[in-house]
Amino acid sequence: MKKLRKALAVFTAASLIAVMATACGSNNDKMNPGSSSGGSNYNLVSDGKLIMGTNAEFPPFEYKEGSSVVGVDAGVLDLVAKKLGLTLEIKDMTFESLPEALAGRNIDLIAAGFTIKPEREETMDFTDTYYTARQTILLKSDSAYTSAEEMKGKNLKIGVQTGTTGMNDAAPTLTGEDNIVGFNNGALAVEALLSGRVDAVIIDNNPANEYKDQHGDELKLLENQFEEEQYAIAVRKGNKELLDAVNQALRDIKADGSFQKVVDQYVR
Ligand code: ARG
Repeated sequence: MKKLRKALAVFTAASLIAVMATACGSNNDKMNPGSSSGGSNYNLVSDGKLIMGTNAEFPPFEYKEGSSVVGVDAGVLDLVAKKLGLTLEIKDMTFESLPEALAGRNIDLIAAGFTIKPEREETMDFTDTYYTARQTILLKSDSAYTSAEEMKGKNLKIGVQTGTTGMNDAAPTLTGEDNIVGFNNGALAVEALLSGRVDAVIIDNNPANEYKDQHGDELKLLENQFEEEQYAIAVRKGNKELLDAVNQALRDIKADGSFQKVVDQYVR
């Protein structure tokens, strides 16, 4: 009996989800009547708009200038939106909330210096890559360490941005889980390093270089200590129409040189 009830419950839940999916489907059809302009075929959150989710505390890929978000990702996505005949809207949020915002239809895509990794590919689809990066170690200049290898097994406290590959992939190769300190953004992690609350910071190479520039002689970098990572744009799982369109746009802006112009504008 118990088994049957459980089976029924599962069945009911499944039909509910099916009904919900159908309802959402028809809703979207209404919102995006099947014409081929203005992004109608891309299953967008809001017709005519391309809503990019990011965490604008990651220079030079995204950061605030006054109240607007600028940087490589904003520049590239602006070009992509134009190719698709859409208006770009940027939503700034914490880095770790991006996947949920995507799945929950608050945004159409994630552009955030976002690294392709297998765990993420389970819940979202990635475009072709557009940038190669590496996790980089930031230390105070007076630190004696000269490699990641030397830092292993020393019980060092390592500051990272929460939810990043620096936190989940790079830092655990150097220290125990308990010694990894998550911050809302890289700048806060760097402050903690300067005030001695952590012994090192691990973050992607481009922001690492920005922080080094900001703090002059106080910081030093250990580069090329970790594997390469590839940045790509993430769309909702199964949104093949948007994925294909963004990939085509990326190819076009790479071919016509406008992609490289944006990169050169923001990356030294
Ligand atoms: N590349 C790293 C990752 O994907 C860090 C990205 C952080 N991006 C940001 N906009 N804060 O996990």
